[in-house]
Amino acid sequence: DDVREAIKKSLACPTFDDGSFGPVVVRLAWHACATYDKNTGEGGSNGATMRFPPELTDDGNTGLHTALHLMEVIKQRFPAITYADLWTLGAVVAIEEMCGPKIEWKPGRIDCSDQSKIPANGRLPLGSKDRHHIRDVFQNHLGFNDQETVVLIGGGHSLGRCHRKYSGWEGKWTENPIHFSNRFFVVLLELEWEWDAVPATGSMQYFNRENDLMMLRTDMELIKDPEFKKWVEIYASDNEKFCKDFADAFAKLLELGVPRS
Ligand code: HEM
Repeated sequence: DDVREAIKKSLACPTFDDGSFGPVVVRLAWHACATYDKNTGEGGSNGATMRFPPELTDDGNTGLHTALHLMEVIKQRFPAITYADLWTLGAVVAIEEMCGPKIEWKPGRIDCSDQSKIPANGRLPLGSKDRHHIRDVFQNHLGFNDQETVVLIGGGHSLGRCHRKYSGWEGKWTENPIHFSNRFFVVLLELEWEWDAVPATGSMQYFNRENDLMMLRTDMELIKDPEFKKWVEIYASDNEKFCKDFADAFAKLLELGVPRS
């Protein structure tokens, strides 16, 4: 409870992005888990392997240093909790603080002490790709179905933003990126989107008419693929179901590769 309280207190920061470290803390946990491969049982949050290169220096993890630093400060105060538990708990607390659902979380992850268990780079999804890539990562490697895939991407991207200095893409998905809700699905369906380049980097993404919201190609695939779109429509019209399904899918994500007796 003390650790939860310390995380909660550390999230607000008026000078950082949209005023909270919450979104980047959520992204840290997602990327710690997203290395899981159901075919080999390797990767996932257990081990906290992102402390070491090459995972630490994986291009997909650029920008996570702010969350890693924030978590390090908590770890110094509470050395008994493992990094792997702390990073996953961080996301659970951050989502709750940003008005999201309560997510089931269990301790028990270990930190690997050497670099022998670090998963290979290249397992994180790329925003420039299509539905085949999304299903390859989410189904073939992580073991999620279409419904879980859609709820996880749309829930994650209701928060935070892209930073051109990190990914080359720029902007937020929703008007209030520190408030967790089904808003991602609503704007994805309702707004008109235009495919164009980010002026400073040339990276291609979707912009809305007002140029104040964005979508990655992978986000747009969620309404181009009929099976994905079915879920986008359900979640756009039912925030309660969205929150419940997100909590279940995120809890499952946090458990990938964690041995339980
Ligand atoms: C196809 C799958 C996904 C792709 C390609 C993707 C890609 C990206 C990219 C490129 C960024 C911007 C990074 C930056 O420039 O700082 C980002 C941010 C973010 N992603 Fe994802 N993502 C995916 C799925 C998810 C999932 C499943 C979650 C969590 C459940 C998530 C949570 C976030 C959050 C919270 C941010 C904002 C971070 C911040 O504000 O610093 N993403 N994602």
